Amino acid sequence: MANASGFFTPSVPKLRTKIQPSMGISRSGFCFSRRFVCSAGTEGAEKQVSPSESRMPKLVSKGCKLVGCGSAVPSLSVSNDDLSKIVDTNDEWISVRTGIRNRRVISGKETLKDLAVEAARKALEMADFDPNDLDLILMCSSTPEELFGAAPQIQRELGCKKYTLAYDITAACSGFVLGLVSAACHIRGGGFRNVLVIGADGISRFVDWTDRGTCILFGDAAGAVLVQACAAEEDGLLSFDLHSDGEGARHLGAPMSDDKTDELLGSNGSVLDFPRKRSSYSCIQMNGKEVFRFAVRCVPQSIESALEKAGLVSSSVDWLLLHQANQRIIDAVATRLEFPPEKVISNLANYGNTSAASIPLALDEAVRSGKVKPGHTIATAGFGAGLTWGSAVIRWG
Ligand code: ACO
Repeated sequence: MANASGFFTPSVPKLRTKIQPSMGISRSGFCFSRRFVCSAGTEGAEKQVSPSESRMPKLVSKGCKLVGCGSAVPSLSVSNDDLSKIVDTNDEWISVRTGIRNRRVISGKETLKDLAVEAARKALEMADFDPNDLDLILMCSSTPEELFGAAPQIQRELGCKKYTLAYDITAACSGFVLGLVSAACHIRGGGFRNVLVIGADGISRFVDWTDRGTCILFGDAAGAVLVQACAAEEDGLLSFDLHSDGEGARHLGAPMSDDKTDELLGSNGSVLDFPRKRSSYSCIQMNGKEVFRFAVRCVPQSIESALEKAGLVSSSVDWLLLHQANQRIIDAVATRLEFPPEKVISNLANYGNTSAASIPLALDEAVRSGKVKPGHTIATAGFGAGLTWGSAVIRWG
């Protein structure tokens, strides 16, 4: 039906509104309030329980710990030699300048959502955790296959039937660190108890495969971590430090562009530039040198700040786990922070830069190989487009 402004509004299922008693949490403890709970008037809606209702009554948790991880990569492996057949490059240049030798790329019927679900299932299996008991799923991704985000679809695929809330976070290669900190905030201040943080990106879809300056860097993957409420003394997020700076956006991005047909639409005297047609994102545009400078300048500062907040020095931290962008960046940050090479986790030789997936992917490999053990501390940092960057000091298990 058209409304007063002439736009068509699709018919939506009628919402039933119930007033239910609910429990909120005040600074002094619990308080009761009355709250509106809306449920879509569709089959089965009566069984739904709202996210906040499901978490009452509960004390605010003081701590949160990382109890399970998982990852998934596409089946197609693309080597540096493979790339040298499509752009003017070679294995030596790529491996010396970046440390990357292979990357996995989504192909055929594979989807990013399926990778995210696989990584999530593995994380839940490791923790022996029922997806039905998840309170929240945070999908950290800049490249979902759905404009409005993938988290609710992942929620459905995982078979969460009760009250799980799911939403997306977009913060490029910093996404996972931001997701982890968001999970902690939801647990510490929001009464949530079990939060699944997924980092997943299919950057290969936004790469110009004729641009040797960028196509050599990226790969696709998903990783996930289950974060659980716990007592303060078991806390696994010891500190964090987060930043963004839109000034630097010009150095790295994939802006939206409109199809050229837009120009024709205004030629008959009608409203110019309306309606827009077929907008799409351009391929990644990057000033590699500037991004490199930004990373080696800002990431050590951020980790130093997080370490200070945690009351730790780098020598007392077990592992350094950075976003896997370039081995030269990882080495430069490690040197600046005085982490010896044997305490630096790196797997980008096999996967390239997988954006929001790179930290949970590397963490998962390190945990499953027995490198990272329960109780180990890890200084981690993400950085990338936005520009965004942030670090966290975490304890595994
Ligand atoms: N193969 C061969 N030669 C190449 C290639 C290639 N793949 N790419 C560039 N070159 C050439 C250039 O044309 C140039 O040649 P010239 O001297 O004749 O002009 C020369 O190699 C040097 O090029 P630079 O761009 O100066 O190379 P640099 O040492 O800066 O390395 C790189 C480029 C690897 C991209 C580096 O700058 C880098 O890693 N930057 C950081 C990128 C990054 O970390 N991004 C992370 C964020 S991603 C996100 O958030 C989504």
